[in-house]
Amino acid sequence: MPEPKCEFFPSDENRELEKVKFREIRIEDSDDMVEIINEAVRGRAYIKRREEITKEENLSRMEKDFGNDRFIFLAAEINGKVVGWGVLAGPEKESSDTGVLGSFLLSKSARGTGVSDELLERIIQEAKNKYKIKRIILNTSVPNTSAINLYERHGFVKTETKIPPRDHYGEVEERIEMAKMLE
Ligand SMILES: CC(C)(COP(=O)(O)OP(=O)(O)OC[C@H]1O[C@@H](n2cnc3c(N)ncnc32)[C@H](O)[C@@H]1OP(=O)(O)O)[C@@H](O)C(=O)NCCC(=O)NCCS
Repeated sequence: MPEPKCEFFPSDENRELEKVKFREIRIEDSDDMVEIINEAVRGRAYIKRREEITKEENLSRMEKDFGNDRFIFLAAEINGKVVGWGVLAGPEKESSDTGVLGSFLLSKSARGTGVSDELLERIIQEAKNKYKIKRIILNTSVPNTSAINLYERHGFVKTETKIPPRDHYGEVEERIEMAKMLE
């Protein structure tokens, strides 16, 4: 008789996810973040920064924004090391109904593993719980198909808003805005 199949046996991908801890970013994570930012800069990723960041610069940047309740800083951690994070800014004024996903970055080792999906979903849920907002917006680069596919999987759609292009190592980088309406 064949062995009965266990439907709940985790796939390899899910087993990877079991090792991931999602939690708030801490000041002590700064050095892990510096490694990831600089890996992305060296890989010419579609991020705003073009030059490597120093530990001091990142630390002072973090200290400036930390403790500001307007932001959601969520990190994904594997074996005690941060492998990615996202930052969402809640509305600046009471009258605004929009949150902005301003930063979303994974180490190369964590890409294509499902960590990005889980991290993004948790940020969306936290934003829904924390703020009285109707939508989340972001802007990204047209050639950044991994990012666009990820955002579309989570209900973001391209909007008509014009975002100015920027320089990507000597090439013109076209950019778009995407938005997700929250129920
Ligand atoms: C954008 C980003 C967060 C997406 O996360 P991700 O884990 O790469 O996303 P996915 O899991 O969807 O994988 C990306 C693609 O690579 C493929 N892939 C498969 N295995 C992979 C692996 N080991 N490593 C990388 N990509 C892999 C996936 O199938 C997917 O293809 P698709 O986009 O055609 O569906 C991540 O690539 C990243 O940090 N990029 C640099 C920073 C950045 O661009 N941030 C967004 C700014 S708006």
